Amino acid sequence: MHGRIRPQHLHNLVSIYLFIFFTLSSSKEEGGDEVIGYGYSIQSVIGDSSGKTLTAHLQLINNSSIFGPDIQFLSLAASFETKDRLRIRITDANKPRWEIPQEVLPRQSHSPLRRYLAANHPSPSKNHCIFLSDPTSDLTFTLLNTTPFGFAVSRLSSGDTLFNTSPVYHHPETYLVFKDQYLQLSSALPQDTSNLYGLGEHTKSSFRLQHNQTFTLWNANIASETLDLNLYGSHPFYMDVRSPRGTTHGVLLLNSNGMDVVYNGDRITYKVIGGMLDLYFFAGPGPEMVMEQYTELIGRPAPMPYWSFGFHQCRWGYKDISDLKNVVAGYSEARIPLDVMWSDIDYMDGYKDFTLDPINFPTEKMKKFVNALHQNGQKYVVILDPGISVNETYPTYTRGMQADIFIKRNGEPYLGKVWPGFTYFPDFLNPSTGVYWGNEIKKFFELLPVDGLWIDMNEIANFITSLPNPSSTLDNPPYKINNAGIQRLIGEETIPATSLHFSNITEYNAHNLYGFLESKATNEALVNVTGKRPFVLSRCTFVGSGKYSAHWTGDNAATWSDLAYSIPSILNFGIFGIPMVGADICGFFGNTTEELCQRWIQLGAFYPFARDHSDKDAIRQELYIWNSVTTTARKVLGLRYRLLPYFYTLMYEAHSKGIPIARPIFFSFPQDTNTYNISSQFLLGKGILVSPVLEPGVVSVDAYFPAGNWFDLFDYSRSVNSQEGSYIKLDAPPDHINVHIREGNILAMQGEAMTTREARKTPFQLLVAISGRENSSGEVFLDDGEDMEMGGEGGKWSLIKFNSGMVRNRLILRSEVLNEEFAVNQKWTIDKVTFLGLNESFKKIKGYQLVTGMGVRENRHLDISIKANSNGYVNVEISNLSILVGKEFVLEITPKKCNKTNACSQ
Ligand SMILES: *[C@@H]1O[C@H](CO)[C@@H](O)[C@H](O)[C@H]1NC(C)=O
Ligand SMILES: *[C@@H]1O[C@H](CO)[C@@H](O)[C@H](O)[C@H]1NC(C)=O
Ligand SMILES: *[C@@H]1O[C@H](CO)[C@@H](O)[C@H](O)[C@H]1NC(C)=O
Ligand SMILES: *[C@@H]1O[C@H](CO)[C@@H](O)[C@H](O)[C@H]1NC(C)=O
Ligand SMILES: *[C@@H]1O[C@H](CO)[C@@H](O)[C@H](O)[C@H]1NC(C)=O
Ligand SMILES: *[C@@H]1O[C@H](CO)[C@@H](O)[C@H](O)[C@H]1NC(C)=O
Ligand SMILES: *[C@@H]1O[C@H](CO)[C@@H](O)[C@H](O)[C@H]1NC(C)=O
Ligand SMILES: *[C@@H]1O[C@H](CO)[C@@H](O)[C@H](O)[C@H]1NC(C)=O
Repeated sequence: MHGRIRPQHLHNLVSIYLFIFFTLSSSKEEGGDEVIGYGYSIQSVIGDSSGKTLTAHLQLINNSSIFGPDIQFLSLAASFETKDRLRIRITDANKPRWEIPQEVLPRQSHSPLRRYLAANHPSPSKNHCIFLSDPTSDLTFTLLNTTPFGFAVSRLSSGDTLFNTSPVYHHPETYLVFKDQYLQLSSALPQDTSNLYGLGEHTKSSFRLQHNQTFTLWNANIASETLDLNLYGSHPFYMDVRSPRGTTHGVLLLNSNGMDVVYNGDRITYKVIGGMLDLYFFAGPGPEMVMEQYTELIGRPAPMPYWSFGFHQCRWGYKDISDLKNVVAGYSEARIPLDVMWSDIDYMDGYKDFTLDPINFPTEKMKKFVNALHQNGQKYVVILDPGISVNETYPTYTRGMQADIFIKRNGEPYLGKVWPGFTYFPDFLNPSTGVYWGNEIKKFFELLPVDGLWIDMNEIANFITSLPNPSSTLDNPPYKINNAGIQRLIGEETIPATSLHFSNITEYNAHNLYGFLESKATNEALVNVTGKRPFVLSRCTFVGSGKYSAHWTGDNAATWSDLAYSIPSILNFGIFGIPMVGADICGFFGNTTEELCQRWIQLGAFYPFARDHSDKDAIRQELYIWNSVTTTARKVLGLRYRLLPYFYTLMYEAHSKGIPIARPIFFSFPQDTNTYNISSQFLLGKGILVSPVLEPGVVSVDAYFPAGNWFDLFDYSRSVNSQEGSYIKLDAPPDHINVHIREGNILAMQGEAMTTREARKTPFQLLVAISGRENSSGEVFLDDGEDMEMGGEGGKWSLIKFNSGMVRNRLILRSEVLNEEFAVNQKWTIDKVTFLGLNESFKKIKGYQLVTGMGVRENRHLDISIKANSNGYVNVEISNLSILVGKEFVLEITPKKCNKTNACSQ
């Protein structure tokens, strides 16, 4: 039986109406004491005059004392912030609670509605449900006036329920529970159609989240070599891809407190130890759209400088300046590209930030060294830890004391211990800390002009554990999240939860924000000091960190499993909005082997961030140590450097839309359900598929190919034809990784070189993978690589789009240029175009025509070479072109053989 009442005052965009719902018996739990909560019931519901918001007043059904007393009255606000973003916020109706400050993560402010505004607002009668929908949105919100109450979010176009918190009667673990230090929210999920990704940071063997797992989020200095534990960062965000159509939405619980997220396949349950339940739903309906919508809220990824897409070398244990020089020389002699040399903590004087060891890394010699790197087009990046050594003779310390910017406990700076011994930690919530930090960085840059900063140990890692304060429940909260997999106290090996930040914000609430705040301050300082695009690499991250920093996956180990785990880790950070990410190539802990390192550089050459890094107790693993690794490194980094314009254009796409550089295969093939559970391959952009070997002693790989023709990027004459999407066994001898480009894509590539600077001086070559079913397209973004803005208004940049396809049996390739000036001034040229996958008619070419500029037809001689491809296709290579990249052109190729009815001969 359905009845429908439409309140008259809600006539604009949003409609709220009542629906008679099934009668449900109210639930009264039997056998009392064990129950965590009894849920809440709806007291009243009102809509605001703009019509985009609904507020419900909730009342506790019964008290339970487990994990502390319940909050009696809650307010739930549901609002369409944009057509693709629905926010549901549940908090104490009468008292403000902790939430991430607006200055930290800017977002729409929420002004709670006053209660009982007018008599004609609908107040639902028993067993009704109330809908909120925006006519422009595919999402709809339903409030279920059951006892206890629940709510659901659905997709209108498919009728799919995306999130459903309606209680399962007599199962209090499914009820809403809201106490000061325990918040619980549980949603049913359709186990057979829902596929979840995200919820990090954890090392996982599978990219798709497995059932019956608890995902603990509490930033900790736990090595990423350990599976399934809470690691350095917290990202309470997941993407849900629904089989079989691949419609995708995203869900963020914006909350910085510690939490366990229990995922059972048919249910997801959040158990959070503070703050509020502030949920955001992103409508999609595709994975790329979800990323656009998610990063619109949390901030688009920071543009990374061009050089950072080169190869990086680091090691903990480069003991002095000659060690550094020898490594740089080693790469040069081996003819392996090296863009960036790194120093771990070894360079500092007594591990004090902003100092140089006067014996092993003397200032004058270091200046010369960095100068020489710069002359050679190379860069130098050093590590910084947040802990400031407590030492009266150390000016950074005394200035910090003077500015009073350290985190406090019991009224004194909190004393921890890290590499330099006893340390205080700057409080990045204090506005004065940004100024202090910027000033210290400025002074350091005057000492040594490094090119980027690597911020480590910022979870915060602490070598001592302080005793909990017995008079507070913060250090020892009633609900124990599964910290370190053993429910260890939240203050272990970090700073205590009772420590205080600026304006009395507790470490309990702000803990997960530390690395994010340090990234933001470091990024801003670098902007100030260098006036160039900053490069910051942070171990600890939170929602929105991608706006300020890159990330590496932390301390992995030199094992074959860690090699494999690096793929899910990297894909996750793409989904978290931090596209510049990589794992330590060849492995950090333990001794690598020649074979592992060879396979690892094959994979690592295609990480967005490619750095070799090792522990001081491990053997050396620079790529020139073994001949086989050297040969392979030249080959795979050769391809990486040729692909630099593509990586950089993907950076532009990530910066402008939030879409990751390294992507799960389902991003491009959401309707291919076989792609949902792949953890061993990934895409770069939409069209390059990387299929590495991840096991020892293996010389072939079973790679999944979604439907289409895929061409081998190392040998264009080889291709794979996948009719419907299938696993194909490919040769993968020790010196080879399979990397394929799919039909329909156009790549703008440049030449190989030892540095990104040199590679940028080489001519462009276009690779056009022709498709029988669609036009091919691609683009290239060009700027100087270190402008603060990437693609900003009126900036110095060019964007060139390429399109290719068959028009009446003629092959046409054309370019379209946005902002030609920059590219023209650089005098970049295209000297070669290679078409892959043409039909047999192109075995003989009748003629060609090149039109550039203002319709100028050029009659110069072009070199054309025609090669057969393994699958009966023809590849045509046209060289000697010298077309200006910045000028639009049309290239037309006419095959000799035309069918009888076709007018291909002019
Ligand atoms: C609340 O719980 C108490 C103790 O378990 C019980 O006696 C009482 O009937 C309950 N009240 C309601 C309204 O469910
Ligand atoms: C729960 O306990 C508080 C404090 O004793 C009391 O004020 C409140 O009415 C109780 N609520 C319910 C729903 O029983
Ligand atoms: C998860 O647990 C449920 C209930 O114990 C069980 O039926 C199911 O098989 C488990 N699933 C997995 C993947 O272990
Ligand atoms: C303080 O720094 C000086 C200079 O680096 C060093 O010699 C001294 O040992 C340090 N003192 C402590 C207590 O660490
Ligand atoms: C940036 O520079 C300005 C001017 O020198 C200074 O006032 C400001 O505090 C600096 N900001 C940071 C974050 O360093
Ligand atoms: C912080 O707490 C202390 C001690 O309770 C109090 O004296 C002080 O006023 C508070 N400061 C702020 C900014 O709230
Ligand atoms: C790594 O190799 C070094 C040098 O051969 C050796 O001393 C060390 O014990 C090895 N470490 C491990 C963990 O095997
Ligand atoms: C010739 O080509 C045209 C255009 O591609 C096509 O429509 C026609 O069917 C072809 N005829 C023969 C005989 O293959």
